[in-house]
Amino acid sequence: MIVGFWIAVTGLELVLFLAIHLGGVGMALLDPMGFEHVSTSLHQQAWLPWLEGALLAAGLGHPLLSLQRARANAQARGPAGGPLRSRRQGPWEPLEALAARLIPWSGSLLLLFLAVHLAQLRWHRPPAGAELAAVLAVLRAPWCLALYVVAGAAAGLHLLHGAESAVRRLGLLEPDNALALRLGGRGLALLLGAGFTLLPLALVLRPALPLLAGQ
Ligand code: HEM
Repeated sequence: MIVGFWIAVTGLELVLFLAIHLGGVGMALLDPMGFEHVSTSLHQQAWLPWLEGALLAAGLGHPLLSLQRARANAQARGPAGGPLRSRRQGPWEPLEALAARLIPWSGSLLLLFLAVHLAQLRWHRPPAGAELAAVLAVLRAPWCLALYVVAGAAAGLHLLHGAESAVRRLGLLEPDNALALRLGGRGLALLLGAGFTLLPLALVLRPALPLLAGQ
C-alpha cells in the first residue's frame, strides 16, 4: 500500500518534470534565443542542485519501488495466476492493454535513454550560449535520433498506463470524476508522447523546413 503510494507520488513528480521539460526544450524549436537565455540563467540558480536531487530521488525511487511491487505481486499471484487483464472496454482498450503489458519495457527503455541523455547533455555542460548547438550535435547522430524518437514514444506509452494508475493508487479516482481524470491522463500521455517523439525530428529538420516549404 505504502509502496504503491510512493510509486504514484514519484511518478507524478516525474510527469510534472516532463511537462516543464517539454516546454523548455520546445523553446529550442520556437525561440532559440529564449532557449539559450533560459538554459544559461537556470544554471545560475542556487536552488537547481536541490531540484535535481529531488528529481534524482524520484528517478531512482520510482523504478526500484515498481520492481519491488512487481516481485511481490508475482509471488502473491503464484505461477498459475497469469497476466492481469483489463475489465474496461472501448476504443482505447487495446492500446491501454498494450501500454500496461509493456510497462516494464517502456520503463527500462526510459532508464537506458536517461543514462545516455544525461551523459550527453547534463554531465557534459556546453559553454553558455551553445546549448542548442550541443543538442543538435547529439541529434545528428542517426542512432541518437532514433533513441530519442523511441524514448518519446515509450514515455507516451508509459504514461498512458501510469497516469491513471497513479490517480487510482492515490485514491483520487471516484465515479463522478473518473471520466475527466481518464481523459486528462490520456491527453497528457498523447501530448508528452507526441511532443518528445516529434521534437527531435523537428529540431534536426528545422534548417531544411524553409527549403521544404519552397521558400
Ligand atoms: C526532444 C527531446 C529532448 C531534448 C532535446 C532534451 C534536452 C535536454 C537538455 C538540453 C538538457 C540539459 C538541461 C540543462 O542542464 O540545462 C536535458 C536534461 C534532462 N533531460 Fe532532456 N531532453 C529531451 C527529452 C527528454 C526525455 C524524454 C526525458 C525523460 C524521459 C528527459 C529527461 C531529462 C533529465 C532528467 C534531465 C536533467 C535535468 C537536470 O538535471 O536539470 N529529457 N534535456
